[in-house]
Amino acid sequence: MRFRSPSTLLFGRGRLAGVPALLRELGAERPLVVTDPGVAAAGIAEHLLADLQTSGLQPGLWDGVAADPDETHAERCRQHIAAGGHRSVIALGGGSVIDVAKVAAVLATNGGRSSDYFGFDRVPLPGLPLLTVPTTAGSGAEVSSHAVLVQLDPRKKEVVAGLHLLPRAAVVDPELTLTLPRAETTWSALDGFIHAIEAFLAVRASPFTDTFARQAVPLIARALPQVLADRSDLAARDELSLGCLYSGLAMANANAGAIHALGYPLTARYGIPHGLANALVAAAALERIEPGRPERCAELAVLLGESLMSLRGTQSGLNATTCHPEGESCEPRPPQIAERVRRFLSALGVDDRLSSWGVPAKDLPELADAAHCFRPVLDNTPVDLNRDDLLAVYRASA
Ligand SMILES: [Fe+2]
Repeated sequence: MRFRSPSTLLFGRGRLAGVPALLRELGAERPLVVTDPGVAAAGIAEHLLADLQTSGLQPGLWDGVAADPDETHAERCRQHIAAGGHRSVIALGGGSVIDVAKVAAVLATNGGRSSDYFGFDRVPLPGLPLLTVPTTAGSGAEVSSHAVLVQLDPRKKEVVAGLHLLPRAAVVDPELTLTLPRAETTWSALDGFIHAIEAFLAVRASPFTDTFARQAVPLIARALPQVLADRSDLAARDELSLGCLYSGLAMANANAGAIHALGYPLTARYGIPHGLANALVAAAALERIEPGRPERCAELAVLLGESLMSLRGTQSGLNATTCHPEGESCEPRPPQIAERVRRFLSALGVDDRLSSWGVPAKDLPELADAAHCFRPVLDNTPVDLNRDDLLAVYRASA
């Protein structure tokens, strides 16, 4: 077994204030704070910069990361590192910001261009010390050793993965998620939810990743509806951020599965947010995956069912009739994970039909062709899903 994670994890409200001391502990200084215009406008970057300045760490700021970043973002970030003489990097933002910072930190020491390192374990030297501070809960990028960038010619998503992409430390402060809009909060958390499920069912699952995945599923399932019902519920945000941190640790080590293979083409072709894209195909995919891991699917269904029951009486939209796992006490068959995922999405108010999100039925065969190309995640799935199986999942989700 192997388990990788940053050497230090700080978790809790107000932990952002611990970044300067943590940076010193790592022996790092002159950090470039990498972020995006949205996080900068929320004032979070300004606050962090002031703390770093006061601590004598001579920080700089680059807020040029965009959604779905491409290779030029990483190269521009590297140029800012060089121009400012920076010797460490702080990624402050969501998955896109963290991915750009990861690649820029290794470009700064290895030279070359992002495209030189597309693939697995192709980065020869450690990067600049990287500290991640997520402002969303769900992507898990803060604890993983890979980054996704868009290659421009031909345009497609590429991964840069390997030990040297792993951040030295991650600071998860649930208060930083307060300014995230409702939709992004939902899609990001659903990504974390699916990470936990896929990591638990993965071929590469281990007792380490199982431990985190088992914790993550009920935490996210319970906390997300509470956060959406009351955006200022900090206790629920603590649970959601913690659940997503756990799911990130599980996914970073066990990797994702077929649900991600099915979700990627929906994002690439229609711009459907990653977490939502996964959620749209999750239930139908799980029906096909279940025969490969029936006991684990039954365990997930129980974990999710308990969370759904605990939501009774909240503003999530669930009530005693709809949230109770139907007929569990007299049900001869084990509870079904696919049905409970559908019920969970329904409780969140998520329309889970592909047609509702602009995916026409005529495109489904091409989507299945595209999904079938994502071998690493398909090969990490406990059943062999061929192209026709993937098409059947899309059709069942249409
Ligand atoms: Fe994901």
